Amino acid sequence: MDSPFQFGTLATDKNFIDRVEDRKQLKQMLSSNINVALISPRRWGKSSLVKKAMEELVAERKEFRVCYIDAFSINSEAEFYNAFASGVISCAAGKVEKAIKDAKNYLGHLLANVTVSDGLSDILSVNLGFKPQEMDKMEILNLPEKIAHDKGIRIVVCIDEFQQLVNLPEYPDMEGKMRTVWQKQKLTSYCFYGSKKHMMVDIFGDSQKPFYRFANLIFMPKIGKGDWIPFICEGFQSTGKHISPAFAEIICETVECHSWYLQQFAFYVWSATEREVNEDIMQASLKRLIDTNSPMFISDIEKLTPSQRAMLRAIRDGVSQLSSEETVKNYHLGNPNTIARNKKVLQEKSFIDSEEGHLVIADPVFKLWYQGR
Ligand SMILES: Nc1ncnc2c1ncn2[C@@H]1O[C@H](COP(=O)(O)OP(=O)(O)OP(=O)(O)O)[C@@H](O)[C@H]1O
Ligand SMILES: [Mg+2]
Repeated sequence: MDSPFQFGTLATDKNFIDRVEDRKQLKQMLSSNINVALISPRRWGKSSLVKKAMEELVAERKEFRVCYIDAFSINSEAEFYNAFASGVISCAAGKVEKAIKDAKNYLGHLLANVTVSDGLSDILSVNLGFKPQEMDKMEILNLPEKIAHDKGIRIVVCIDEFQQLVNLPEYPDMEGKMRTVWQKQKLTSYCFYGSKKHMMVDIFGDSQKPFYRFANLIFMPKIGKGDWIPFICEGFQSTGKHISPAFAEIICETVECHSWYLQQFAFYVWSATEREVNEDIMQASLKRLIDTNSPMFISDIEKLTPSQRAMLRAIRDGVSQLSSEETVKNYHLGNPNTIARNKKVLQEKSFIDSEEGHLVIADPVFKLWYQGR
């Protein structure tokens, strides 16, 4: 029997719930030539949301084409320009023969060899193995606008984990070029999404940087209990099992409505249940949830220094004044410089987050695991 709960793949179709407002907002902005920077912690559902919203947009407005670029796997400047050109050409062409023709037409002078394949998947992939020269870079960045103009279409370029590009040595130069070229485009809009909040805010919210106010920042909220509880209950029901709304609510609360963990936890409960969920199943499934994730947590904290771990313990214990004399002494937090630096590191590595002015452990299952240590 297929599980009604899924994690590790994008949520689509039946498995995609809620986000009505988020979808509407994304579609509205991107179709009105307003760029978006969508931010949320890891695994809350950014990629699923963008994919779903863009599918709807394409279904509603025939002139739109959407291209997806994953910056996470890009390791050099040349790779970025290749991925960008390939993505744009593939989404605008639709067919292999067409893509080859377009690639030659628009980029022929830059390309030594073009390979285009549609492989076994239905996703067209164009691989333009070239090394762009200075002038070409601007030309490539303007490719979507040029194609959109020629073909009478509009293009949305979605760049996942955009903040990863900052790690490339050439990023400052790329950033300047992107801004210069992209800000003039009228037929192309950009959706940047990423999970490193401080980096995304730094890129799009710092008045000293080229991308300042280039995109509308959206902090994606969580899906609420009101949507999760019926989803959980119906998932059980549709497979001949039963969970009470009270247990479903406990699932939501345990993982603080974190999308990925919620699906994972619900899956464990569902697979341990023959007909009716009970307290024992809930307990055993929670243990399984924590145990499965613990190797990752261990490897994460092993990368921290002793004073960073000390700070994490203090935050776990709910200490409100990290720099008070007593806390510093009890937890061995180090001198004020160390404290300030560690706070920054823990935030950058997404261990902690600030919520209404105080620091909390960001990952709900990490929190449960860490409490027991
Ligand atoms: N709208 C949704 N409805 C139901 N489940 C969802 C939804 N969005 C996300 N999920 C669940 O959360 C998981 C993570 O979603 P997704 O990969 O879209 O998140 P992400 O924010 O892009 O993650 P990452 O930070 O790893 O890129 C999915 O595999 C799915 O189980
Ligand atoms: Mg993602």
